[in-house]
Amino acid sequence: MSNATAPATEAPDPSGAPLHVAINMDGNGRWAAARGLPRAEGHRRGVEALRRVVRAAHELGILYLTIFSFSSENWSRPASEIGDLFGLLRRFIRNDLATLHSDGVRVRVIGERDGLEPDICALLNEAEELTKGNTRLNLVVAFNYGSRQEIAHAARRLAREVAEGKRDPQSIDADTISRYLDAPDIPDPDLIIRTSGEQRLSNFLMWQAAYSELVFVPIHWPDFDKTALEEAIAEYARRERRFGGLAAKTGS
Ligand code: FPP
Repeated sequence: MSNATAPATEAPDPSGAPLHVAINMDGNGRWAAARGLPRAEGHRRGVEALRRVVRAAHELGILYLTIFSFSSENWSRPASEIGDLFGLLRRFIRNDLATLHSDGVRVRVIGERDGLEPDICALLNEAEELTKGNTRLNLVVAFNYGSRQEIAHAARRLAREVAEGKRDPQSIDADTISRYLDAPDIPDPDLIIRTSGEQRLSNFLMWQAAYSELVFVPIHWPDFDKTALEEAIAEYARRERRFGGLAAKTGS
């Protein structure tokens, strides 16, 4: 995801539609607890919400949808819950990949692959390979992802180039770092949504969020649907994005 410095050409679409929406799908556990259900059921219903939102995203003309499906910090959860989340990812790819492909969805994955089980890596690679020619919607799955880790990884690669004499440290600016992140060709998110009422980024796209509009919605992820997405987009469309400059119409 590039253009962190947001040149003027990245001004919002006049129709008010965000090109790139990123979602922190929070609240599965609380949704389940409120119903006396196991947390795994909250995650399972979370996958159903994800299916609805992928469909809604292409209906609403969104070109990039990034979802936070497993964070670098989620390893601190009980092994049984980690197993449930990995199982859901396996089933999601096995059951939904053909439909995503026929719907013109390109699947991209960001995050650390090292250390993941080989079958998970194989499924992620298969999803990316099969769908790489699709252009209708880019579904960017942040899996085993953390912004700090992503930025540290970029810094390591750059430091190595400097140590090998291949790069002048003076050449490193914000655009260079953007180009060394996990998906440098994907534009920064216009809108980041977090469900369940929590109001923080939690290590999600922190570099790319420099000029994103943040919308926090009170409902838990399993209840999220097309209407909730439309409401978040309507809130986004009411915001004035200045990218550190002046207001477009008033100049104030
Ligand atoms: C946050 O809810 C959600 C997660 C940690 C994982 C999100 C995963 C899914 C929606 C399903 C799996 C995704 C794919 C792509 C198959 P939480 O557990 O932190 O909820 P809580 O804060 O209420 O406990």
